[in-house]
Amino acid sequence: MHYYNSIIETIGNTPLVKLNKVTKGIKGTVLAKVEYFNPGNSVKDRIALKMVEDAEKAGLLKPGGTIIEGTSGNTGMGLALAAVAKGYKCIFTMADKQSKEKMDILRAVGAEIVVCPTNVVPEDPRSYYSVARKLNQDIPNSFYPNQYDNLSNTAAHYETTGPEVWGQTEGKITHYVSTVGTGGTMCGTAKYLKERKPDIVTVGIDTYGSVFKKYKETGIFDQNEIYPYLTEGFGEDILPKNVDFDLIDLFIKVTDKDAAIMARRLSREEGLFVGWSCGSAVYVGAEYAGAS
Ligand SMILES: Cc1ncc(COP(=O)(O)O)c(C=O)c1O
Repeated sequence: MHYYNSIIETIGNTPLVKLNKVTKGIKGTVLAKVEYFNPGNSVKDRIALKMVEDAEKAGLLKPGGTIIEGTSGNTGMGLALAAVAKGYKCIFTMADKQSKEKMDILRAVGAEIVVCPTNVVPEDPRSYYSVARKLNQDIPNSFYPNQYDNLSNTAAHYETTGPEVWGQTEGKITHYVSTVGTGGTMCGTAKYLKERKPDIVTVGIDTYGSVFKKYKETGIFDQNEIYPYLTEGFGEDILPKNVDFDLIDLFIKVTDKDAAIMARRLSREEGLFVGWSCGSAVYVGAEYAGAS
C-alpha cells in the first residue's frame, strides 16, 4: 500500500511546468514551479511545517498550544493544516486588503482571523505585525512563528525547494526568478542553487510601494518608497531577516496592472489558475528570458 500518514506528508515535490503561450517568441525555456500542488495550495506549506516542527523541537510549541501569525493568507493555510494534523489552535492577523476568500478558507480549516488595517506603519499597535505580537504575549502557551525573521523559513526552501529545482532542471537552470516578501522562497532556494552553480542569476521581484529594490541598490531604507499597492504577499515596508540581499543579484519592480494581466493570461493560456504574485514572477521571467 502507498499512503501518507497525514496531509502534511504531501507537502513538496511539486511539478515544474513549461510555459508555452505566454512565452511565445522567446528562445529561452521558462519553467514554472507550480506550488499550488501543495495541500494548502501554496509554497508556504513548506515553511509552515518547518517552523512548527522546529518550534516543537525547541520546546516553543507544546501540546494544546496556539499558533499565532501575521499572514497574507498562504502561510496561514500551511500553519492551519499543520495545526489540524498535530492538534494545535490557530489565530491569524491579516491586513484588510487581503481577499475575503483567503479569510473564509482559513476560517473553514478552523482558524480564528483578526482583521487589521493595511494602511498603518508596522510599529503602529493596530498593524497586523503588532497585533500578532501582542496576542502572543497575552495568550499562554502560544507560539508566534514570525515568518519574516524566523530562519526556519529560509531553511525550508534550502532543504526542499532548492534541491527540487536543481534535480528537476538537472542543474541546467541559468536564472532563478522569485517574488520577495519574507525572502524565504528566494533566499533559501538561491542559496542552494548558487552553492551548486555560483553563476546562476537570481532575480528578486519587488513591487511599486516596497523598499527592497532601492535598499539593494543604494543601501538606503527610503520611507518615500512605501505606499499602498494591491498585489498581495510580496514587497515589504520592513527588512525581514530572511531577506539576504547578497543572494539576490538584482530586483525588478512589477506594477499591479502587469501582474494582474499576466495572472489572467496564465489562467487562460496555460491553465494555471494563479494569483498576482505568480503573475509578477512570470512577467519578469518571460521578459528576462526574451532579453537574455
Ligand atoms: C501570495 C504571495 N506571494 C509571494 C509571497 C512571497 O514569498 P516569500 O515570503 O517566501 O518571500 C508571499 C508571502 O507571504 C505570498 O503570500
